[in-house]
Amino acid sequence: MSKPKYKHAKKEASKSTWVGGIVTLLAVIAVVLLGLLAVSIMERRWESQRPSMVLTPIADWEPDNAVWGQNYPREYESYLQTRVDDTLTKYGGAFPRDYLEEDPRQVILFAGYGFSKEYLQARGHYHALEDVTKTKRLKVPYNAGTCMTCKSTDVPRLMDSMGVEAFYAANFHDLKKEVSHPIGCQDCHDPRTMTLRITRPALKEAFTAMGKDINNATHQEMRSLVCAQCHVEYYFKSDPKNYLTFPWAKGTTAENMIAYYDEQDFADYVHPISKVRIVKAQHPDFELFSTGVHAYAGLSCADCHMPYKSEGGIKFTDHHVQSPLLNVANSCAVCHRWEEGRLIARVQSIQDKVQNATWQAEDALVKAHFDVGAAMEAGATEAQLEAARQLIRHAQFQWDYISASNGMGFHSPQESMRLLGESLNKSQEARLLVSRILGSKGVTGSPVYPDYATRDRAWRVIQSFTGQVNETISLLP
Ligand code: HEC
Ligand code: HEC
Ligand code: HEC
Ligand code: HEC
Repeated sequence: MSKPKYKHAKKEASKSTWVGGIVTLLAVIAVVLLGLLAVSIMERRWESQRPSMVLTPIADWEPDNAVWGQNYPREYESYLQTRVDDTLTKYGGAFPRDYLEEDPRQVILFAGYGFSKEYLQARGHYHALEDVTKTKRLKVPYNAGTCMTCKSTDVPRLMDSMGVEAFYAANFHDLKKEVSHPIGCQDCHDPRTMTLRITRPALKEAFTAMGKDINNATHQEMRSLVCAQCHVEYYFKSDPKNYLTFPWAKGTTAENMIAYYDEQDFADYVHPISKVRIVKAQHPDFELFSTGVHAYAGLSCADCHMPYKSEGGIKFTDHHVQSPLLNVANSCAVCHRWEEGRLIARVQSIQDKVQNATWQAEDALVKAHFDVGAAMEAGATEAQLEAARQLIRHAQFQWDYISASNGMGFHSPQESMRLLGESLNKSQEARLLVSRILGSKGVTGSPVYPDYATRDRAWRVIQSFTGQVNETISLLP
């Protein structure tokens, strides 16, 4: 049993007076030394970031990342890491996995459109230009110049010299001769002050369309808005030609956007099996993220995808933009004290549920396209099919809004599940309508669904509907 301390203290009162004096003196010296150390660390950190330290002045529109890298070697070297393309997480990473091989349903859903030919997982920013040039989705000799907007840091310069409208209206293959650098420093930074800036006009215009002024954005908002220049839903307006537009005029939810597209009577393609006019969702990462708990808590994209990193006592922003699951210690552990394995398991359990709901929505959607095809074969009129087609148009956009978004629903789990549920319900409603139409034509059995169990077999199926192979598939029982 330990004695109460005050007794002991009383006995040694005289001794503790001078001991106390020495301890106090040592403490004062230690505090002073620590203070000096802190000042020195802060100075070094400041030196590493201070724009006035710039050794080489950076020209306006300087596209060469290596030139910027002379002044900011840590940021540049970490940026170069986006070259890495052999990382894989359960649902992400930089390895270009083949989505169509993993999920042949998507071949059917994108039939008649480039995404049914090739659909690979995104690699890092370093590869953006190479990948857009190589993709089988490109058409030769003509493809919209607009596709180049989000791939190269030569774009701000070209927009300045050509004018924005002329840039979008140009032929991609002509623009290609003018660009040679992938996404880079000046896309997000002002060369003189290094402050974050918006270089792509579509984002500014989208803010204006919503009655907002992007110049009022806070610093923390800018740490997401630089990403929202590209990681958003968009389409090419026909007038002015191929003008890059974010469909946000009515708001940024999936429903706001589909209402906008309906009003514009816009479609990316007409589905060859069902003749449904489809809007291909792009990757509404910013919009979906905005509905989630991390956005509510005030986080920005950079908080998880560009966390701080320390090197030799110097703290800087890690420019290796990638899956945060490959860097949990820096990107999540700052706020969450959970053990790494548990944290990743928690993320995956969210993603597993979203993946499962995605597949269910796809199953119903694929069958809905075939059902309409069967009704067409049975002689249903355009007027009879109109309601079902409109349901499928909306169902496919709601499914794709989540499917095409990065992160497999992690950015906003509830909103993801909500949209997939809505999509599934609409597809089944459409199928119900069509089955009544089929019944009225005397078709009582289920339509016959062709074999699309692998990517190659699914290709064969859609080729017969687009007339690329001379083979007729009947959907009627
Ligand atoms: C709270 C942290 C967090 C924030 C904030 C965040 N993300 Fe993510 N992001 C993740 C996680 C976790 C994944 C899933 C990675 C995986 O599955 O490997 C992800 C995945 C991604 C991916 C795909 C990466 C891959 O390798 O599959 C992209 C692109 C992305 N996010 C963009 C954004 C954008 C743009 C924003 C801001 C609008 C944002 N993220 C905000 C955590 C975050
Ligand atoms: C100028 C357009 C542009 C900007 C700005 C941009 N991105 Fe990207 N991002 C892309 C493109 C294009 C790809 C796909 C590149 C490829 O596949 O070759 C991509 C890929 C990614 C990936 C996938 C890489 C991987 O390893 O999984 C992540 C994550 C990502 N971006 C996050 C962000 C974040 C966070 C921001 C803002 C800090 C941002 N991006 C800003 C265009 C952009
Ligand atoms: C996709 C957008 C994006 C690109 C591309 C980009 N940066 Fe950054 N950069 C950021 C963000 C976000 C921050 C954090 C800024 C803040 O919070 O003030 C940052 C911060 C910085 C800083 C301030 C110091 C620090 O480390 O926090 C420097 C210097 C910098 N970047 C240099 C570069 C260089 C050099 C390149 C090109 C090799 C580059 N950046 C490319 C988004 C980008
Ligand atoms: C800047 C702080 C911050 C960072 C960084 C951060 N989070 Fe969070 N996270 C929060 C807050 C705040 C919440 C809301 C719940 C709460 O208050 O605990 C949250 C909630 C969550 C939840 C529960 C919500 C849900 O949807 O189930 C998960 C899981 C999660 N975060 C994972 C991550 C992962 C993974 C990363 C890294 C990629 C990360 N977080 C990075 C602050 C952060």
